[in-house]
Amino acid sequence: MLMKAPQTAIRAVVLMFCVFLLPAMGTGADKPCYMCHKSKIVGTYVHAPVADKDCVACHKSGGNAHQKNKELNGVKKPGAALCYDCHDPLNEQKSVHGPIKNNDCSGCHAPHVSPYKKLLRAAPADFCFTCHERQKFTWPAPHEPVGAGRCTDCHVPHQSTVANLIKPTKELICYECHDSGISKGKSVHVPVFDKDCSGCHNVHGSDHKKLLKASPTELCFLCHDKKNYQKPSTHEPVIAGRCSDCHLPHQSDTRSLLKFKTKPMCLECHDPKIAQGVSVHMPVRACECDVCHDVHGADTGKLLKMPYAMVPEAPYTDTAYALCVSCHDKAAYTQEENYTDTRFRDGKTNLHALHVKGANVTCRMCHNPHASPQAKLFPESVIGKDNMPIMLNFTPDIRGGSCKMTCHSAKTYKH
Ligand code: HEC
Ligand code: HEC
Ligand code: HEC
Ligand code: HEC
Ligand code: HEC
Ligand code: HEC
Ligand code: HEC
Ligand code: HEC
Ligand code: HEC
Ligand code: HEC
Ligand code: HEC
Ligand code: HEC
Ligand code: HEC
Ligand code: HEC
Repeated sequence: MLMKAPQTAIRAVVLMFCVFLLPAMGTGADKPCYMCHKSKIVGTYVHAPVADKDCVACHKSGGNAHQKNKELNGVKKPGAALCYDCHDPLNEQKSVHGPIKNNDCSGCHAPHVSPYKKLLRAAPADFCFTCHERQKFTWPAPHEPVGAGRCTDCHVPHQSTVANLIKPTKELICYECHDSGISKGKSVHVPVFDKDCSGCHNVHGSDHKKLLKASPTELCFLCHDKKNYQKPSTHEPVIAGRCSDCHLPHQSDTRSLLKFKTKPMCLECHDPKIAQGVSVHMPVRACECDVCHDVHGADTGKLLKMPYAMVPEAPYTDTAYALCVSCHDKAAYTQEENYTDTRFRDGKTNLHALHVKGANVTCRMCHNPHASPQAKLFPESVIGKDNMPIMLNFTPDIRGGSCKMTCHSAKTYKH
């Protein structure tokens, strides 16, 4: 608040000065200052004490004497201290503008008169650029208010309770013009929640579209470690840095900022036929693609979370068959005798173990991991060890079944 009270007193003094002292002038003894310094009071916008011809509110008094005694030319107090005689201090908040920290009001304001409002030293369009390099705020596609030179849409000139001299607002300066819905949703990105818009946007302008700080394919790696997205088996859209194929940048109504509401979102890009057939694997039917796959990448081929023998033949080890035996009992494939907890047996012979442990035949030769047009996830054909396709024809029976394939003629088992 301004101290208005002294002003009335000042006006009275000035009035007395005019009535009693002016007529006595001409001797040159104590002419009022403005008689000799006329330019100081002529202008479109005149500072109130100047308009009041109260020169000595700021200047050391001295009349003509000052022409001889340069000491008396100065103002009463240096820098901002003079202004703070009548104006509230402007250097008390969290963020204080550089010149004000240096107690320099005069870089921006003329003390007496100015052709510009608020006694500013330059026209609004050029004002900030008297000190800030215009080049730094010039972009081919600037943020609209910046391009229009409306710096004060977002900044205050003196001080602010918000860092960077940002105009204090109820929520966030950006939401004065943009929908605050970007920070509401089931999952909100941490930097958005933290109001760190500058984590991704250059607020004044950028060489990238949407004011982004980096190209869309590099943006996410400003904060997320690229190494985590460079596994031996990496999902193609991840390799290409197209995180936004699956994620939204601000918020989402689905978990993990996902773009897709459907479950499984995998089928947004992959042929849904992968999960359809006469037999469908239970986890696939349950839409749980991620029990077997790591969506970004994995150490094992085909984005698999655990090793899986992707060849026609491989000796059984717990490691090599880890994926399937993480849910299925490994004894079914290794215990050749006296194992009855599988339907693939002939009498007492466990045909599963006979093939897998006994003959190194991998699960892949008889089962598809997702779905298939035959029962028991049997594929119609597989590629054999000599690189030739093998046709499979599996016929289930109530107590057994029969298998016809290129490698052996129809064989039947019973249990
Ligand atoms: C009789 C005329 C006259 C009066 C009255 C007068 N001045 Fe001056 N003032 C001058 C002259 C002449 C100079 C010297 C100009 C120069 O050095 O270029 C000067 C110089 C100044 C300067 C220094 C200018 C500079 O460029 O450094 C200030 C400040 C100043 N006067 C303030 C005042 C104030 C305040 C008053 C009233 C209390 C006042 N003057 C009254 C004539 C006057
Ligand atoms: C609000 C305070 C204030 C008032 C009121 C004021 N001045 Fe000043 N004046 C200043 C400041 C600040 C300077 C710059 C002094 C400095 O840099 O040392 C200045 C400088 C001057 C100068 C020197 C030339 C220049 O422009 O730098 C003159 C002459 C002058 N004032 C005349 C006047 C006259 C005449 C009045 C009354 C009509 C007046 N001033 C009223 C603050 C004031
Ligand atoms: C002697 C008291 C006094 C001093 C000292 C003083 N001012 Fe003022 N200033 C006023 C008054 C009175 C007003 C008019 C306030 C109003 O209109 O609400 C004013 C208004 C202003 C305005 C607004 C002008 C407008 O057009 O609205 C600015 C800017 C300003 N002062 C800057 C300064 C600066 C910079 C200094 C220091 C160099 C300073 N003042 C020193 C009394 C003073
Ligand atoms: C970086 C430039 C800058 C500096 C430095 C600066 N001001 Fe200002 N000031 C402005 C601008 C711009 C406005 C006009 C704001 C507006 O129109 O909303 C203003 C307005 C004012 C006003 C009018 C009040 C109002 O809100 O309209 C006063 C009084 C004022 N300044 C005093 C000061 C004082 C005292 C200092 C030194 C402590 C100072 N200013 C330093 C830029 C500055
Ligand atoms: C009189 C010179 C001057 C003018 C005019 C000026 N500035 Fe500044 N500004 C500075 C200085 C000096 C700094 C401090 C620079 C630094 O710390 O590197 C600064 C810093 C800033 C900062 C950073 C504040 C912070 O907290 O880090 C912002 C924002 C800013 N200015 C905006 C503006 C805007 C907007 C305008 C126009 C309304 C403007 N400036 C006009 C001199 C000026
Ligand atoms: C849309 C709001 C907005 C507008 C308009 C705007 N700024 Fe800023 N400015 C900001 C934000 C937000 C920051 C903090 C930036 C950050 O965190 O990187 C900032 C920071 C700054 C800084 C300090 C950091 C830096 O980048 O140097 C300066 C100086 C600055 N702005 C000057 C200006 C000037 C000059 C203009 C007008 C040409 C302007 N601003 C227009 C929002 C804006
Ligand atoms: C004074 C109003 C205003 C404020 C405050 C503001 N903006 Fe904007 N912004 C606009 C306008 C106008 C556009 C261009 C029209 C549009 O796309 O909506 C825009 C566009 C954008 C764009 C898209 C740019 C493009 O090239 O399509 C982004 C990103 C953006 N603003 C981010 C921000 C951020 C971050 C903040 C807070 C620091 C912010 N804005 C504050 C007015 C504002
Ligand atoms: C993690 C990075 C990131 C953060 C943090 C971020 N944004 Fe964005 N923002 C983006 C991306 C990427 C786009 C471009 C989206 C597109 O092209 O569809 C964008 C676009 C925008 C747009 C333009 C919308 C449109 O459809 O054109 C606005 C406005 C915007 N952001 C505002 C903000 C605000 C405000 C904040 C802070 C609350 C913020 N952003 C934080 C990454 C981010
Ligand atoms: C400014 C830093 C920053 C940038 C840039 C950034 N993020 Fe984030 N992100 C974070 C932080 C912090 C977290 C929370 C901690 C964590 O999970 O690492 C997070 C978490 C996430 C999450 C997990 C959200 C959840 O609800 O579990 C996803 C998904 C994500 N970010 C995707 C992205 C994408 C896609 C991009 C590029 C468009 C991106 N991030 C760019 C900082 C950032
Ligand atoms: C093919 C779709 C897809 C792509 C492309 C994708 N993500 Fe994800 N992301 C997901 C899914 C699905 C989840 C949820 C995983 C979960 O909840 O188990 C997720 C989770 C996340 C998480 C949080 C959990 C975690 O794993 O840390 C972050 C962070 C993340 N993604 C960042 C990224 C980044 C960065 C990129 C680009 C390099 C990216 N994502 C590309 C689908 C994708
Ligand atoms: C945004 C589109 C998209 C989404 C969503 C998507 N993928 Fe992919 N995926 C691709 C593309 C493109 C390829 C490479 C071409 C191909 O093999 O079809 C690929 C390849 C794969 C591969 C083969 C990897 C290899 O090394 O050969 C697997 C496995 C895979 N995706 C699983 C998934 C799973 C699981 C999900 C859901 C969590 C998913 N994908 C979601 C686009 C997507
Ligand atoms: C039980 C584990 C498991 C589940 C659940 C699973 N997959 Fe797979 N997926 C695999 C295995 C194993 C492979 C490697 C098959 C091969 O090449 O032998 C694979 C391969 C793939 C491939 C690459 C196909 C190719 O021909 O290269 C895609 C795409 C894929 N899966 C998508 C999905 C989708 C989408 C889901 C969910 C609907 C899903 N997977 C669920 C185990 C699984
Ligand atoms: C996440 C757990 C899980 C993993 C990993 C898993 N399965 Fe399954 N599988 C199941 C469940 C649950 C069933 C249904 C109950 C049952 O028959 O045991 C099933 C059933 C089957 C069936 C019988 C299908 C039918 O139509 O009756 C076959 C064949 C099969 N799985 C093969 C595999 C193969 C091969 C692997 C390795 C690629 C594998 N499974 C990995 C959970 C899993
Ligand atoms: C030589 C072909 C063959 C191989 C190799 C094979 N299976 Fe099977 N599997 C079958 C047949 C045939 C059935 C159907 C038995 C029935 O229902 O009559 C079956 C059934 C299953 C079932 C249903 C439950 C059961 O045991 O009856 C699961 C689970 C299964 N297999 C998992 C696997 C896993 C895991 C592997 C690799 C470790 C594997 N299979 C290797 C032929 C094979």
